[in-house]
Amino acid sequence: MAPSSIQSPAATQPDSDGGEKYAKVNWDELDFSLTCTDYMYVARFSAEDKFSPGNITPYRNIELSPAAAVLHYGQGLFEGLKAYRREDGRIMLFRPDQNALRMQMGAERMFMPAPSTEQFVDAVKQTVLANKRWVPPHGKGSLYVRPMLFGTGAILGLGPAPECTFLVFTSPTGHYYKGSEKAVNLCIEKKFHRATPGGTGGIKSITNYSPVFEALKGAKAKGFDDIILLDAATGKYIEEIASCNIFILKGDTLSTPETLGTILPGITRKSIIELAKELNYKVEERLIPVEDVLAADEVFCTGTAVVVTPVGSITYEGKRTEYRTGEGAVSHKLRAMLTGIQTGLLMDSKGWTVLID
Ligand code: COI
Repeated sequence: MAPSSIQSPAATQPDSDGGEKYAKVNWDELDFSLTCTDYMYVARFSAEDKFSPGNITPYRNIELSPAAAVLHYGQGLFEGLKAYRREDGRIMLFRPDQNALRMQMGAERMFMPAPSTEQFVDAVKQTVLANKRWVPPHGKGSLYVRPMLFGTGAILGLGPAPECTFLVFTSPTGHYYKGSEKAVNLCIEKKFHRATPGGTGGIKSITNYSPVFEALKGAKAKGFDDIILLDAATGKYIEEIASCNIFILKGDTLSTPETLGTILPGITRKSIIELAKELNYKVEERLIPVEDVLAADEVFCTGTAVVVTPVGSITYEGKRTEYRTGEGAVSHKLRAMLTGIQTGLLMDSKGWTVLID
């Protein structure tokens, strides 16, 4: 279960800032709860202007007009990526350009100017370097980076904000499903949906997540780690897990829902498709009926937060189906390949990683 405690910088700051390599964090206990770090990056711009250059500022609460468009019209996007420390101590980002491109795609859909790929990647680098002492030691987790773009300008009538803010903050993180790292137990949600045809499911809009909170809370109360959402049009096909993308494996064929507007084009999803093809698995992006999930040999989730997490069981209409997990599983092999590249243990022949120090 993902805990929700918050640690403030004051609670974790070292006694002196004089070149100390690491913040005072119990690196062995990291989970996905928020630990506030020292600095964030902020850039503001008006609808007419291009992005103004941003600045690194101390991490603090932000001031918003009660009429800010993000608060009542939900004009906002977020991203998630990670910085990893290699064995030699140097710090790498994983495919930050892909997050920049996805933010640009979302910004177009939600009528906001977006930072260029160069500004986005530079902002992420600056924020990570400013918070360097919060990047966990090699093998202990990662510094999760949360870039956001949202309408901060005040407005009453329906329309895009006259001013937007691009903000990047970080938090050291460990496993998303702390306590269920080996395999998660999911249930299929029939009543609530994440996305609708013509809606914003295909971009990382802030509006995509809270609509399933009620279902998620109910599932967690029954002991499940997360929920699988079905398509809103027919209720026959799996779309996503509340927090990530989903893959199923049958024989040598890996399948994942096709990104036709209701599925988030995950960067981990895209990377796993490439790695699986390299291992000679057949990969299909298609509609996946619930029956195919129940007949699969393996199911696993992918996402920046969850990385690659095997699914141990899925419960649907009261019936529990179990799947292969553990060292013999394909998900194990794919996870090892991906995290090997992300943490510098395996050679990155694809140019996915970016050294920043
Ligand atoms: C991520 O994986 O980075 C996400 O944004 C998912 C979020 C629910 C933690």
